[in-house]
Amino acid sequence: MNEHDIRQALEPFRLGKMLDGVHVQAGLVQISLAVKKADVATLTPLKTKMEETLAKLPGVKNAAVIFTAQRETPPPPKPASPILPGVKSVIAVASGKGGVGKSTIAVNLAVALAQTGLKTGLLDADIHGPSLPRMLGISGKPKVENGLMQPLHAWGLTCMSIGLLVDEETAMVWRGPMVMGALTQLLTQVAWGELDVLVIDMPPGTGDVQLTLAQKASLAGAVIVSTPQDIALIDARRGVKMFEQVQIPIIGIVENMSVFACPHCGETTNIFGHGGAKAEAERIGVPYLGAIPLLLDIRETADAGTPICAADPASAAAAAFRAVAAKLAITLATPQRAAPRIVIE
Ligand SMILES: Nc1ncnc2c1ncn2[C@@H]1O[C@H](COP(=O)(O)OP(=O)(O)O)[C@@H](O)[C@H]1O
Ligand SMILES: [Mg+2]
Repeated sequence: MNEHDIRQALEPFRLGKMLDGVHVQAGLVQISLAVKKADVATLTPLKTKMEETLAKLPGVKNAAVIFTAQRETPPPPKPASPILPGVKSVIAVASGKGGVGKSTIAVNLAVALAQTGLKTGLLDADIHGPSLPRMLGISGKPKVENGLMQPLHAWGLTCMSIGLLVDEETAMVWRGPMVMGALTQLLTQVAWGELDVLVIDMPPGTGDVQLTLAQKASLAGAVIVSTPQDIALIDARRGVKMFEQVQIPIIGIVENMSVFACPHCGETTNIFGHGGAKAEAERIGVPYLGAIPLLLDIRETADAGTPICAADPASAAAAAFRAVAAKLAITLATPQRAAPRIVIE
């Protein structure tokens, strides 16, 4: 008994768009239906009928149908982050796990946003693996003026990295509260100035540090980075759940290391598969922002401190980043944010 079988069994109900989710595990089936609050009473008999039908299927131990609702009136736009009063929107680039290209994407998206004329900042908050100094080619302890750390400027960005303040071995042994203290300082004790958007390269994972940082920075939204393999997508899903839990809208999922084009013969190979993130985004109902190819140039420019969007704006890689940045900019310009899903029964 799998999701496909359940969806097939539900076909006679002609649920269409109302069918919001199907979850099957070890004979337990959970269906969510997106409905208006006012329709709950009318739809209750349907819900009962569905549960009865599903419970009769071989291999189903229990079937439950729940009603979920998109909020009917859009939530008021979030006030600008109270601890970053000069910053219009703060967005996070996050991933369930490290090594998927989160920093590469954060850096290049920030450069691409700056190239559209937005005043853009970039904060490297990845306390256990800061990579902005290397990727942007910046170094040196930040100066302090009037009690505030002065951000550095590179590639049109205003930037700061935890890596400029502490060495990696020191940060590695810090416990939660110390990590949080350091991250709070990066938000509040840096002279960020007036920015249209601040991109945060989040620490990978979905623990307390990530949650607290997301809330403190009062994020306007989060971009989730995943490679196409199932195993990475499971982590991406965790990331989506984490932000939904604190009602931070998911701006969308980006697939990284998607198609590999051989620099010698031009042949394309899907080393980690392809299209997994798009399918996953559709499945969990969050926007898909596009795919970034796996390219030697992306890695080499990142290692050289010259992000590809700045170093070679005419390249296919830069165009892929710009396409994602354009979708992001549209989301930021739209006051109505995606409403969090809420269970209404
Ligand atoms: N699309 C890509 N093509 C080629 N190399 C990539 C790509 N994305 C990331 N990389 C490389 O993969 C490594 C890990 O990426 P990084 O951005 O540091 O990941 P994370 O921040 O998720 O740990 C880096 O060496 C980076 O240059
Ligand atoms: Mg990183």
